[in-house]
Amino acid sequence: MQKQLHVALVYNVRPENLPADTRVVEEKLESGRLSGGGSDAGIITTSRIQPLKTKSDTYAEWDAEETILAVESALRAHHNVTLIEANEEAYDKLLAVQPDIVFNIAEGFHSPSREAQIPAILDLLGIPYTGSDPVTLGICLDKAHTKEILSYHRIPTPEFAVVGNMGDFTADEFPLPAIVKPLHEGSSKGIFNASVVRTNESLRQRILQTLTEYEEPVLVERFLEGREFTVALIGNGKHLRVLPVVEIRFDSLPKGVNPVYSYEAKWIWDQTDHPIDVLQCPARIDARLEGEIKDICTRAFKVLRCYDWCRIDVRLDEQNKPYVLEVNPLPGIIPNPKEHSSFPCAARAAGFDYNGMINAVLESAIMRNGLQ
Ligand SMILES: Nc1ncnc2c1ncn2[C@@H]1O[C@H](COP(=O)(O)OP(=O)(O)O)[C@@H](O)[C@H]1O
Ligand SMILES: [Mg+2]
Repeated sequence: MQKQLHVALVYNVRPENLPADTRVVEEKLESGRLSGGGSDAGIITTSRIQPLKTKSDTYAEWDAEETILAVESALRAHHNVTLIEANEEAYDKLLAVQPDIVFNIAEGFHSPSREAQIPAILDLLGIPYTGSDPVTLGICLDKAHTKEILSYHRIPTPEFAVVGNMGDFTADEFPLPAIVKPLHEGSSKGIFNASVVRTNESLRQRILQTLTEYEEPVLVERFLEGREFTVALIGNGKHLRVLPVVEIRFDSLPKGVNPVYSYEAKWIWDQTDHPIDVLQCPARIDARLEGEIKDICTRAFKVLRCYDWCRIDVRLDEQNKPYVLEVNPLPGIIPNPKEHSSFPCAARAAGFDYNGMINAVLESAIMRNGLQ
């Protein structure tokens, strides 16, 4: 029999879910409900921290209320659950609540340390949590540092340069085509159809535009034209499970666009009322390629010291050789299958329902922390 634990679910909720009437928030706080307290309560936010500047994609990483409630409900099937918003009050709440373990899906507010902040607080308080530690979360939110570690371990990753200011970069020397991305973003923030460049002039322009809009260094990478895959992993050590490989189907994108899983492809062209069938799961690949992809993903998981779960993006070059594009130790987990979320899609192909998937991640953390 599984031991019932007190699990705190720590999250950031997208602002379109803010309750219109802020008094509701205050009343809930005054009545001692630290944050939510059941599906009936809905998700509340009491954040005073705001992003420094908002753009159309500012909140793309954060979870919708529906996701947070689905995770809560999955955890509640076996455990007592308290919801805690990952804002400036999180430290006091965690100290007061003292959960046995935290299920961490907090994406954080700003800076490359944003995903690491809650796990760092939890380390300070001695509270175990699901997922990777602050060091790994910080490194993986710096796509170049991730690639430096992968390269050291001879895990293929596309050739790259980091540009902090245009004066330090000679566009003529970089191999084309290339893709330009902000260094510290996820969920395709800053990666648009126009991020793929095929001339030196457009490379220069795109770097300038990305530097100006995102106010952070830019990663320029050799653009790989081959098929793209993403791989979900659950567990640790000898219990690490590589779930069925998911393919990103570029033939599902509008005609004439670049083959990239861009911001437009994730959040604009794919709508629940007219979805594009972008994920093929399991991918239709032969055993040799599947083996190669799973091998580099397992190695990437290990060298970056990921824990409990992760999703790794992979793309092939012209010779069908797989390369790691990036490592996501805090993967997106949208519950509605119509919204095409890769991690739950891979989990379904592996035979997990949503609750099973969430509890498999929790179980990995419970086992790793010796809380059985
Ligand atoms: N070097 C590359 N070659 C080809 N496509 C790329 C490359 N880098 C990124 N992409 C495309 O852009 C998408 C988003 O890039 P990624 O690095 O995964 O950022 P994010 O963290 O936003 O998911 C990828 O899924 C892929 O389609
Ligand atoms: Mg990605």
